Amino acid sequence: MQLVTNKQGLHGTIRVPGDKSISHRSIMFGTLADGKTTVTNFLKGEDCLSTIGVFRALGVSIEESENQIVVHGKGWDGLQKPTEKLDVGNSGTTIRLMLGILAGRAFEATIAGDASIAKRPMGRVMTPLREMGAVFEAKEANFAPVKVTGTTLKPIEYTLPVASAQVKSAIIFAALQAEGETTIIEKEKTRDHTEQMIRQFGGKIEVDDLTIRVSGGQKFSGQTVVVPGDISSAAFFIVAGLIVPNSKIRLENVGINPTRTGIIDVVKAMGGKITVEETSAVGDEPAGTITVETSDLTGITIGGDIIPRLIDELPVIALLASQATGRTVIKDAEELKVKETNRIDAVVTELSKMGIALVGTEDGMIIEGQQKLHGATVQTYGDHRMGMTLQIAALLADSDVTLLDADAIKVSYPTFFEDVTSLY
Ligand code: S3P
Repeated sequence: MQLVTNKQGLHGTIRVPGDKSISHRSIMFGTLADGKTTVTNFLKGEDCLSTIGVFRALGVSIEESENQIVVHGKGWDGLQKPTEKLDVGNSGTTIRLMLGILAGRAFEATIAGDASIAKRPMGRVMTPLREMGAVFEAKEANFAPVKVTGTTLKPIEYTLPVASAQVKSAIIFAALQAEGETTIIEKEKTRDHTEQMIRQFGGKIEVDDLTIRVSGGQKFSGQTVVVPGDISSAAFFIVAGLIVPNSKIRLENVGINPTRTGIIDVVKAMGGKITVEETSAVGDEPAGTITVETSDLTGITIGGDIIPRLIDELPVIALLASQATGRTVIKDAEELKVKETNRIDAVVTELSKMGIALVGTEDGMIIEGQQKLHGATVQTYGDHRMGMTLQIAALLADSDVTLLDADAIKVSYPTFFEDVTSLY
């Protein structure tokens, strides 16, 4: 598809769709709870619809209407043996968290996804779950498709070797089915939506800095979940507002859970004009209004424990850096290699085609500032965040940009291109 390029600056207000991580978890906890759970502002992107599809295949009744999702939870034992293979599509969160849920159920199920899912590491989840007693048969031991033979699980104490909320959450779901207390020690703090939602559904989990303790045998009760907007989707407009000349953009109802706001800290450190005003909070899931305007930016080094707080935003942060004065170094981000695609290779290859000087490193990228962008034919590699990053880059291009496989954006933001155009 032909991407839009901008002439006059971007102005207006956007309400980005619901948070992807929270939307997935609302269906999971709604299912595991007893009674009705109502979810509003649920993200109807392909990934979260895959989660709904998986639970329906497990016998759960889930109603979808224009404004809400209703899950009729029947507790853990409400899950039934599926008659077909469970299909997660492109969703890493669905497959990894489901492995933790299925590991302790009393039936057999096979879970699989698309070509990208078949290449993503599942060993990081299966290793701790196997320690808990889980039985998996997987392609080359550690890749999807995975056959799960549900069994009785035992608690463990586990130190996460990678900073990953998906791994942490899979262990938590297994721990909720084990007899006794499981201890998880994080390397760095990662997004804590699973922990927040356990509390919201009436369960107990102890968090002491990087140590998490959770016991099995808990009961959850149905809730009303109001999903805030996804800061990872807002990130594209934050960057657009900062780098497109003469712009001012207001983003309403964006989730600003502190485990997700690394991009705001980076923008401030680069000298960007950004304001954040908290407007509501459901438990510890606060939401607010973010305003950005065109800014003079300075290159910085991004690394250390901020990385898990902005991991999904790094492709568009690389673009942001290309418009700053001086060089930006992104390090400690080797996780980028195992996302929907290898995001170090993909960002470097595609932004280079548009004229940006940047190189990939073992654990990140080095990006030169004050770059001019040119027209090109670029591709998404089937990765939604690549597609959206390239559309924002195209706003600065001096001639036409064609994006191949643009449909990938439907994973997390089906109305993205319309929302960009609405700011003209
Ligand atoms: C997610 C965790 C992150 C993130 C992904 C969603 C989640 O993955 O990149 O988009 O919902 O738990 P990792 O846990 O692999 O870092």
